[in-house]
Amino acid sequence: MKIGIDKIGFYTTPLYLDLTELAQARGVDPNKYLIGIGQEKQAVIPPTQDIVTMGANAADRILTDEDRKQISTIIVATESGIDNSKAAAIYVKELLQLDPFVRAVEVKEACYSGTAALQFARGLISLNPDEKVLIIAADIARYGLETSGEVTQGGGAIAMMISAEPRVLAIDGPSVPYSEDVMDFWRPLYASEALVDGKYSTSVYIDFFQKTWERYQTLTDQTLSDMAAMIFHLPFTKMGKKALDAILGDQNDPHSVLMRTQLAASQALSRQVGNLYTGSLYLALLSLLTRSHNLQSGDRIGLFSYGSGAQGEFFTGILQADFKEMVRQADVEKLIMARKQVSVPEYERLFRAQIGYNSKNVFLDLSQDHEKYVLQGQQDQKRV
Ligand code: HMG
Repeated sequence: MKIGIDKIGFYTTPLYLDLTELAQARGVDPNKYLIGIGQEKQAVIPPTQDIVTMGANAADRILTDEDRKQISTIIVATESGIDNSKAAAIYVKELLQLDPFVRAVEVKEACYSGTAALQFARGLISLNPDEKVLIIAADIARYGLETSGEVTQGGGAIAMMISAEPRVLAIDGPSVPYSEDVMDFWRPLYASEALVDGKYSTSVYIDFFQKTWERYQTLTDQTLSDMAAMIFHLPFTKMGKKALDAILGDQNDPHSVLMRTQLAASQALSRQVGNLYTGSLYLALLSLLTRSHNLQSGDRIGLFSYGSGAQGEFFTGILQADFKEMVRQADVEKLIMARKQVSVPEYERLFRAQIGYNSKNVFLDLSQDHEKYVLQGQQDQKRV
């Protein structure tokens, strides 16, 4: 039985920051951000959006009424949790008006947990082929104003329906997970911004990729020439280039050239939005499937998932006959084109206006947020 991604959707807020303007404000050569980091724009998250509203907005863009009735499990993958006990999935389930006879949970391991959710969904569906699992991977990537991580911020949500006989990508063959206890990036309970050993994190990422990719080749006898594309978790787009370069042999042979073209297609959306944390790998998938002209049904795609702390996993999937039509429905170009630019001072104001984690009542001004699902604030220590 084939199991995998049947539908995939994406939501980010209607606001972005131009990174050339950020570079000028920070006294940095813009080419460092545009070329050295590989980012052009960054999603700006107003206080009226959080992982719940962004997740619901992403799912709402792809779910039919029939889908809503059929979902039996909803898993929210996030590292921007809003409660140490109650799962964000319960709130999302309610907003989406899913059936009450549903299983709703949240999973965590930095940027990796979207992939954990996908693997758990495969297990549920192989036990019961009628199950349909909704995965939401939603995050706000925050490092802090005037930090070296600032240029790698971003945010948004990916929603994926996982089922038997999927129409986008069937997960195929062995998956290779790899884990080690490392302090490359973490967020203690008291902190609303991540702590990061930035350069160390990039070297751990590459090390995990090489280890899992080598093991995958040993287990399957496949090589890079069996892959129509390799895609990566993209904390910033240059990271994907660093990872691919680490395994490309002769840079000029035709398959290496193809791999670099495919990588560029997979990076296009991240370059406009920034890091989605748990959703980034799947945004790269959506970007590849909407932007590449070199893909057909039956092609094998290699996916590398990475979450700091750290957990990596390499796995592959086979493109299905209807993949083009299914990703067209996600309508990502319209979402990206409709965004409005905010100035650096406005971005800084919105950054500081996030409601944070304290017990005060907060009533947000909703007049500027016209999205379907919005965060109204916090009352009596309850999210509204
Ligand atoms: P930095 O110190 O600002 O950057 O930190 P740099 O000085 O190393 O410069 C970056 C690149 O720009 C370099 O290229 C420079 O040469 C180049 P590289 O050597 O890397 O190829 N450069 C220029 N290029 C063109 N024109 C110029 C110019 N000037 C410099 N004028 C860093 C960069 C990424 C470390 C920082 O932004 C950071 O800490 N980011 C956050 C951490 C991160 O994203 N880590 C990635 C791996 S870990 C991961 O993926 C997990 C994560 O998503 C979290 C999770 O799992 O939850 C982060």
